[in-house]
Amino acid sequence: MQLHYAAATLISLALLLLLPSTTNAQNITRILAKHPEFSTFNHYLTVTLLAPEINRRKTITVCAVDNAAMDSLLSKQLTLGAIKNVLSLHVLLDYFDAKKLHQITDGAALAATIFQSTGTAPGSSGFVQITVLKGGKVGLSPQDAANTTAATFVKSVEAAPYNLSVIQISAVLPSPAAEAPAPAPSEVNLTSALSARGCKAFAAALTDNIAAEETFKGNVESGLTVFCPGDAAMKSFMPKFKNLTAEGKQSLLEYHGMPVYESLSGLRSSNGAANTLATDGSKRFSITVQNDGNEVTVKTPIVTAKIVSTVFDKDPLSIFQLDKVLLPSELFKSDLAPSPAPEGGHHAKAPKPSSRDESPPAPAGPADSPVDGPDGDAADQDQHSDGGAPRFVGYGVIFSLGFALLQL
Ligand SMILES: *[C@@H]1O[C@H](CO)[C@@H](O)[C@H](O)[C@H]1NC(C)=O
Ligand SMILES: *[C@@H]1O[C@H](CO)[C@@H](O)[C@H](O)[C@H]1NC(C)=O
Ligand SMILES: *[C@@H]1O[C@H](CO)[C@@H](O)[C@H](O)[C@H]1NC(C)=O
Ligand SMILES: *[C@@H]1O[C@H](CO)[C@@H](O)[C@H](O)[C@H]1NC(C)=O
Ligand SMILES: *[C@@H]1O[C@H](CO)[C@@H](O)[C@H](O)[C@H]1NC(C)=O
Repeated sequence: MQLHYAAATLISLALLLLLPSTTNAQNITRILAKHPEFSTFNHYLTVTLLAPEINRRKTITVCAVDNAAMDSLLSKQLTLGAIKNVLSLHVLLDYFDAKKLHQITDGAALAATIFQSTGTAPGSSGFVQITVLKGGKVGLSPQDAANTTAATFVKSVEAAPYNLSVIQISAVLPSPAAEAPAPAPSEVNLTSALSARGCKAFAAALTDNIAAEETFKGNVESGLTVFCPGDAAMKSFMPKFKNLTAEGKQSLLEYHGMPVYESLSGLRSSNGAANTLATDGSKRFSITVQNDGNEVTVKTPIVTAKIVSTVFDKDPLSIFQLDKVLLPSELFKSDLAPSPAPEGGHHAKAPKPSSRDESPPAPAGPADSPVDGPDGDAADQDQHSDGGAPRFVGYGVIFSLGFALLQL
């Protein structure tokens, strides 16, 4: 009896713990399915692959339009890529429910949208201007048509403060920039693309690390280059990998991706430092892509890896297999280098910046920053990192600009 009671209590407890987490998961498809007047809008969120992107995000507002408004958009015969851009202009990257809309400070606010965040929106076309009108109505317009009222707030559909607000607006926001022809959205399965040829172990490590996997997946649409270590390299690295902290594991994995799309020929012609997905403010985590004849290498202060094959290449995603795991100096000191310097404060010489130098790099930092020996303390290291950051950020911006131009 006692046991049965205990078991029943445990099961109820387990259900209590489980239920909220499954019902709380934000699902825009399910929310809109309760309102048949938004069925067309809902359908297009799914086919344009915007729904999963909305579900991933927090603190957003979806401006839904009814089926009649969607019909007038569809009558324009836009490509699916253009419809995606138009709808992504309807997802504001801030939380606005009915109350907040009517209480906007000074009667006007500017909201960035998913269209803005994709980097494909030229100028200010990815922003939506919200204005409280005379009589308490709320108007919405793309910023580049801000002196007209393109649509007005109709009603609140769903509000989960401050994660997700779904509101109805009276019409589709008109935007020549969003309606311009755009490539069709395509779902690339990163995991299966990686597993297909020689990067199974890296794919498995990524699948195990939800945070890193999200970072990679979140970058596929806007452009992503993955450098995956081959299975042999990854397997022999696993003991060291398992030894890293959770944060270290995530950074190590994210260190193997660049937030821009590069083809192999693009990499061949873009010698220099580049940001990785692990680059975050003062944390440097940069790599140097360098070519030598036909060979493209990816260098860190600790290791020089070689691209051995192209695993996948279809804009906006490319995957290249490396012969080695990339070791960032932010996580690994020279103890992993082939020949560790002796203990005791000898200042290691920085390697000569010669692209012909194929010998294993000395256990030291980048050529331009004098780095202490293996004992150099973390604070010192960080200082150097901060000093070097703008240069690397600069390259990132150039890469991104180049990418944005390609998209136009
Ligand atoms: C969201 O809900 C729809 C409809 O109920 C369902 O088909 C879909 O699998 C759900 N998505 C997620 C990520 O749970
Ligand atoms: C918006 O304002 C600008 C400058 O004031 C004007 O040139 C333009 O014609 C206006 N657009 C509309 C649609 O009224
Ligand atoms: C908002 O999201 C957080 C984190 O996922 C969750 O804990 C919270 O319950 C959500 N709030 C609402 C109102 O859904
Ligand atoms: C991607 O592919 C893997 C393995 O082929 C599969 O397990 C996974 O469900 C797929 N993911 C998606 C989102 O299709
Ligand atoms: C794991 O970390 C410990 C403590 O820092 C170290 O002694 C050990 O050698 C490490 N093992 C591997 C495989 O790196």
